[in-house]
Amino acid sequence: MKALVLSGGKGTRLRPITHTNAKQLVPIANKPILFYAIESIKEAGIKDIGVVVGDTKEEIKTALGDGSKWGVKITYIEQEAPLGLAHAVKISRDFIGDDDFVMFLGDNLIKDGIVSLVDRFRESHSASQILLARVAHPEQFGVAELKEGKVLKLVEKPENPQSDLALVGVYMFDKSIFEAVKNIKPSRRGELEITDAIQYLIDHKFTVHPHIIDGWWKDTGKLEDILEANRIILDTLSKKIEGKIDKNSKIYGKVVIEQGAEIIDSVIRGPVIIGENSKIVRSYVGPFSSVYYDVTIENSEVEHSIILQKSKIKDIKRIEDSLIGQNVEILKSKTKPIAYRIMVGDGSRVEVI
Ligand code: DAU
Repeated sequence: MKALVLSGGKGTRLRPITHTNAKQLVPIANKPILFYAIESIKEAGIKDIGVVVGDTKEEIKTALGDGSKWGVKITYIEQEAPLGLAHAVKISRDFIGDDDFVMFLGDNLIKDGIVSLVDRFRESHSASQILLARVAHPEQFGVAELKEGKVLKLVEKPENPQSDLALVGVYMFDKSIFEAVKNIKPSRRGELEITDAIQYLIDHKFTVHPHIIDGWWKDTGKLEDILEANRIILDTLSKKIEGKIDKNSKIYGKVVIEQGAEIIDSVIRGPVIIGENSKIVRSYVGPFSSVYYDVTIENSEVEHSIILQKSKIKDIKRIEDSLIGQNVEILKSKTKPIAYRIMVGDGSRVEVI
């Protein structure tokens, strides 16, 4: 069995964080989302992984390398434009050959992994196994209609969803999916939809096995979802202190302080992770915060937020519910007139007091 991880596409919904960076590399509890997918696949005993890449290919290649870090073999498959999930399958035919495979969307996170799901597919001998989860807003996903435990119909982002069962971004296929992707047409949004390809399988009497998962799953396309994923993963960490904490600082609960990080005259209340070589000085970092590497937080309060590498926060009363990109500086205005002086990218959102 092989795996296909989809890391192409454009992260428009997370702009400007992902304007120049791959959305699959945004860190959750200081680990890129994509790494969780690779780990889940490896855990299911699959070592031959194709990674579909687009505009952000250099960044993805730098992050994953040849896969040896995880003991897997990674083959890169270049997609000239994000023409759809089924298009990504189509161009991966040479890599997959006649093998069964798991397709894993690089921005999806399944907390309990995929081991039992892959085993179930291996035993089922069906053409495809799809995973479904109950969601509050099915119109934002592919939606399945079931009847007596069988899939009747799949619709991509329907205006009037007929159920609350969303397609999770992990699919299992045998080679019949290649016949399906060859025979479907682009959708209204101009993409070759995997939902339509699976519908083709259903219509042509191939067995498509639905499996409703009850564990936690997240499509990390939006800010609230990223923060929620961060909350859930941080909660699973155990306390580990590898950096330095001075005697004036207090650490409460599940806190990870990575190598080279320094906590000076500060309070850290977990679950929190502070990345390598970051410095927290005269500050408070509160629950559900992930501070990536080389960050400085000085004389400020931060809670329920993700701060990416090399950013600096100084003299700021309080930051909450925020995702702050790389190399960002948030400082108190000192020159007169005292005013907000802001340089933010397209599509940003800033709330001020
Ligand atoms: O997350 C689950 C949902 O994923 C499903 O419920 C939907 O049925 C499915 O279509 C998909 O919807 P999204 O709109 O969330 O897909 P998105 O465009 O975000 O792409 C998912 C991943 O695949 C993302 O990591 C980018 C990558 N991708 C996407 C496209 C369109 C590619 O590598 N190539 C592509 O052409």
